[in-house]
Amino acid sequence: MRAVILFDSKTSGGSTDKLIDSIGRTLAETGAYVEKAKCKSTGDYSFVKDFDVVIMGAPIYYLMVSSELLGALLQSNLKSCLQGKKIALFLTCGSPELMANLLYLPQLKLNLIGSSIIAEKIFAPDQLSDPAVVANYVDKLNKAYRQEQR
Ligand SMILES: Cc1cc2nc3c(=O)[nH]c(=O)nc-3n(C[C@H](O)[C@H](O)[C@H](O)COP(=O)(O)O)c2cc1C
Repeated sequence: MRAVILFDSKTSGGSTDKLIDSIGRTLAETGAYVEKAKCKSTGDYSFVKDFDVVIMGAPIYYLMVSSELLGALLQSNLKSCLQGKKIALFLTCGSPELMANLLYLPQLKLNLIGSSIIAEKIFAPDQLSDPAVVANYVDKLNKAYRQEQR
């Protein structure tokens, strides 16, 4: 599997950076080739075509998914480059999982209607550094990917 992690965060070395390193390392240990790329709302996402799986996520700031990722989905060619890709979503936030599922995840999913979303996860603050939670997300992603390959 070739996977790219498309992410945004306003905090260099913050919780999202640490989480994507952890997701990337865990996924690579299962044999995947993994790259990461920071989103820009005006970026060119043609490179996404080289990957089987696109893992996308960002923190929530002031009730919104971080602006460069949301902006990329709204303004750039990202949405068209995601056609036919398997997508995994994640968010980091301070809210409880249930609230985040209702309020924040739809901000991404409304832009991905018709896409194949194979895994999604809200990482609450206490889960960010928990290797078991990351491993579980990567495991779900791997299993769903293999199932869709059949
Ligand atoms: C300025 C700011 C605003 C935030 N607003 C929200 C919010 O509206 N809802 C929420 O659940 N978490 C909110 N959070 C928590 C962040 O989403 C959470 O701490 C996240 O892990 C930060 O990621 P980062 O370290 O990569 O910046 C906010 C954090 C900051 C710093």
